[in-house]
Amino acid sequence: MPERARASSAHISPSAHYTGYVWYRHRLAEPAFVTAFGSLVHKLLWPLAWGARAGFGLDIEALLLQRHLQIDAQLSAAIEQQGVRQVVEIACGLSPRGRRFCSRYPQLQYLEADLPAMAARKRLLLHGEGWLDGRHRVCAVDILAERGNQQLNTLFADLDRSQPVVVITEGLVNYFPLALIEGFWSRLASELSDFPSAIYLTELYPDLHEHPRYRQLRWGVELIGRLTRGSYPLHYRSHDEIVAGFQRCGFAQVQVLDPSADASSLGLKPSRLPGLVRVIQAQV
Ligand SMILES: C[S@@+](CC[C@H](N)C(=O)[O-])C[C@H]1O[C@@H](n2cnc3c(N)ncnc32)[C@H](O)[C@@H]1O
Repeated sequence: MPERARASSAHISPSAHYTGYVWYRHRLAEPAFVTAFGSLVHKLLWPLAWGARAGFGLDIEALLLQRHLQIDAQLSAAIEQQGVRQVVEIACGLSPRGRRFCSRYPQLQYLEADLPAMAARKRLLLHGEGWLDGRHRVCAVDILAERGNQQLNTLFADLDRSQPVVVITEGLVNYFPLALIEGFWSRLASELSDFPSAIYLTELYPDLHEHPRYRQLRWGVELIGRLTRGSYPLHYRSHDEIVAGFQRCGFAQVQVLDPSADASSLGLKPSRLPGLVRVIQAQV
């Protein structure tokens, strides 16, 4: 793996403070998940977010909620309809999902994972509130690591391979060039093939040239890249390319969901523009 991409990965972590604050603002998280940095960045970006909404009808927080709530809905269905009892959330950041799902489903084993510094922070946060126990844990992982104790197979070592599993990444994959993230997806698919059934849930932002706000979207991703001192490449240009990409990585069944098409069932206002984010549900 290129050293430059690896070095830039840690610069992504501050973005988790911003999304953590957004989840809190929309009543998806307790106050413990808020950091001073998260609320400061939210304040600083507010004029931009307001301008994008008023000027172009692009609502950044609605976009974040679409992906978050669609992933929640897929996870609830996997638990309630398919009897899933173990979940691994990679790049968990300051997301409250582990906390919410462990309170809602007492049978669940929930493993959160992130780069070491963010994982330590999350562990401290959950531990401080008395929310960590044998079934809700936090570990370090680096999705780019191909050896060492932060690689994917170390994270998976303690899982029960006789039981189904759901793996989630949210707010992660568009920070990396496609070749790098497809490398991760291939390693993930190979790990998941050991389980009786396994679902991978992620969101991604495709390169939708035909979208009426494509130019503004390009400005937005340029800005995210600058703020996180990296880049924010859009992956795949269509539904078919997404399916083919995941299949190349070893996922046999691939569903591409557009949360904007499902807004009311997710409890969101219908959006005036075609959706920009897709949630992928992939199975090996
Ligand atoms: C935009 S935040 C998303 C956090 C959370 N999933 C959410 O939606 O609120 C991106 C997260 O990816 C994590 N991350 C960045 N590079 C990573 C890597 N190589 N392996 C694992 N996690 C990584 C960051 O530390 C950060 O917590």
